[in-house]
Amino acid sequence: MANPQTDRLHDMHVLITGAASGIGAACARRMAREGAQLLLADINGEGVNTLAAELGCASVRADVTHAEDIRRMLDLAYERWGRLDVLLNNAGVAEIRPLLDLTEEEWDRMLATNLRAVFFVLQGAAKRMCNQTPIAGSALRGKLIQTASIAAYRGGLAHMVHYAASKAGVVSITRTAAQVLASYGITSNCICPGAVDTPMWRKIDAEWSKLEGWEVGEAWKRRTAFIPLGRPETAEDVAGVVSFLASRDSDYMTGQAVNVDGGLVMGN
Ligand code: NAI
Repeated sequence: MANPQTDRLHDMHVLITGAASGIGAACARRMAREGAQLLLADINGEGVNTLAAELGCASVRADVTHAEDIRRMLDLAYERWGRLDVLLNNAGVAEIRPLLDLTEEEWDRMLATNLRAVFFVLQGAAKRMCNQTPIAGSALRGKLIQTASIAAYRGGLAHMVHYAASKAGVVSITRTAAQVLASYGITSNCICPGAVDTPMWRKIDAEWSKLEGWEVGEAWKRRTAFIPLGRPETAEDVAGVVSFLASRDSDYMTGQAVNVDGGLVMGN
């Protein structure tokens, strides 16, 4: 029998994009521990299959920039469960490029994954959620959670203008979806992590440190030096808040962008 203390996601059916690595993988582990049934999606098919085998859940290789892959991933959830309670719309990419050198191709590539795909994954999930019965134990039909970033508000790190713009767009989409979908019983919120120790930040550090002529690790050191809570953020720090947003405990929240950043957005 489910224990409401430890199994707060019992009977929740959750699709996570970008689940093979970093924040997505940590959320998968956390939500599996809390009793959720998971479908893990990622462009890295091998990575997502390995994690799914570890967690005993389903997985699919899907590139969220392709409409056909979005459809296939959502079809799989509905074939398996006949419903989808929670979407964690998390897949994203980052790249260091100086503002004055950024090309149109680089801009388009970044926004294709971090903004356009986020919208069409949200839209695809929402269209189906509208027609399903409420979540067990809830008045809601579905919950949409996007991964934005504090870069959405504070501007990007130096050399990430396109990334910051994409994340501002994610906050905007999240809020419009919250307004439009409330009457269907669907909530929409996003999380805004700070500087999280994941493969994405290791890439940022390598590219940024190289650009500045610093040693590897220097960009990360500078970025995390003034975090008010005094330590760098882990993917597990984000997963705890995502799990809350996925749970019935957050049913009365919608349209929110929740900072999970150790206070970084205030700090420097
Ligand atoms: P990560 O690089 O460890 O994981 C991202 C995952 O997304 C990877 O498994 C990758 O294969 C997948 N992915 C990339 N493009 C995809 C596509 N087209 N289709 C399907 N999957 C795709 O990065 P991390 O740090 O876990 O990032 C997750 C999310 O959190 C991203 O949206 C990122 O922008 C956001 N974020 C990360 C922060 C950080 O400091 N690491 C801070 C704020 C937000």
